[in-house]
Amino acid sequence: MQKIIITGGAGYIGSHTAVALQESGFDVVVIDNLSNSSVASLDGVASITGTRPCFECVDCTNIEALRSVFNRHSDAVGVIHFAALKAVGESVQQPLLYYRNNLDGLINVLTCMLEFQIPNIVFSSSATVYGVPSVLPVTEETPLQPATSPYGQTKVIGENIIRDTVLANPVLGATLLRYFNPIGAHPSGLIGEHPNGIPNNLMPYITQTAAGIRPMLRIFGDDYDTPDGFCVRDYIDVNDLAAAHVAALQYMLKGATGISTFNLGTGRGYSVMELVNAFQESTGADVPYQIVARRAGDVPAIWADASLAGRVLNWRADTPLSETLKSAWRWQQNCKK
Ligand code: NAD
Ligand code: UD1
Repeated sequence: MQKIIITGGAGYIGSHTAVALQESGFDVVVIDNLSNSSVASLDGVASITGTRPCFECVDCTNIEALRSVFNRHSDAVGVIHFAALKAVGESVQQPLLYYRNNLDGLINVLTCMLEFQIPNIVFSSSATVYGVPSVLPVTEETPLQPATSPYGQTKVIGENIIRDTVLANPVLGATLLRYFNPIGAHPSGLIGEHPNGIPNNLMPYITQTAAGIRPMLRIFGDDYDTPDGFCVRDYIDVNDLAAAHVAALQYMLKGATGISTFNLGTGRGYSVMELVNAFQESTGADVPYQIVARRAGDVPAIWADASLAGRVLNWRADTPLSETLKSAWRWQQNCKK
């Protein structure tokens, strides 16, 4: 069995990817400091797949502790690096925390990979690297723009750190995955997104409002230059996203070298109002909302051209939106129990 190390594997996307990897026959080692997750997600992975991933409770910024884990798992054939802090607003308040956590962590992971000759890395990047795009949909060739938050900067800089490291060390191969807006949960309802405190992101805010935890969804802005005036995003099912990580690893393990970059989205944009309406229709749950002023820093519209991942990885996001929204709701209801 080929072994894969996933940092941040107890988190939202990491736990779904752990399931997808195990179901594809990989042996999974999770490294996580549980700063934004709990081992309950690994219990969920175990219930779904019948196998509990090996868990190493380590902070990626601690090079000695990380080295000792890599030493024990030096037979790994690849690393998926999810571990990062991701709250945009918090990153503006605490930039050094974000630069240290996200960039020191990445540098340490790359250092250990080189020391123990682990040849493949998959990196969690974000559509945030495109800023406010002038042409839609965005392809991987769309020019990058300066990020608008320290969080976004860590993705732009992280991509560059990996590029330079691969250039200097051709034994290393890398895949940069630019996620659009991941939503939903595993169909079992056993794992899902667990935001700390008041959610910043739309989907958990919708489900918590529908569950009565929040009184009202605030929709930020109805005066954008979009068909219905609301912001448009490309919402991708988290299970489809997880499958893309498996496809990326398989592609590298078949011999792809150098750096590959892929957009991971559905290729279809939905406005905030369309998403709220689709959620209500798919689940029958009511989402009280009010329309308020625009949120500072929001991009009016962005969606992906994900055809490169289709052609090269033979991957596409094909979960119907209604299934994704039902899974998000199922997970929310399980969380309340
Ligand atoms: P998450 O917070 O659920 O998962 C991240 C995990 O990393 C958590 O379990 C956390 O405890 C762990 N972690 C953080 N810093 C660590 C460190 N120093 N050492 C060890 N573990 C650490 O977030 P997620 O939504 O699953 O995101 C995963 C990755 O995808 C992140 O890199 C994020 O920036 C990126 N991303 C997420 C989104 C999104 O909308 N969720 C969009 C684009 C990119
Ligand atoms: C945000 C971040 C982005 C990050 C991503 C994943 C900003 C500006 N961008 O993307 O850098 O990679 O999360 O963590 O923070 N909305 C509401 N009401 C809400 C919440 C959101 O109307 O309560 C709207 C937003 O205005 C936006 C859409 O829903 O139009 C999606 O918002 P969100 O889920 O926060 O994702 P992004 O802003 O796309």
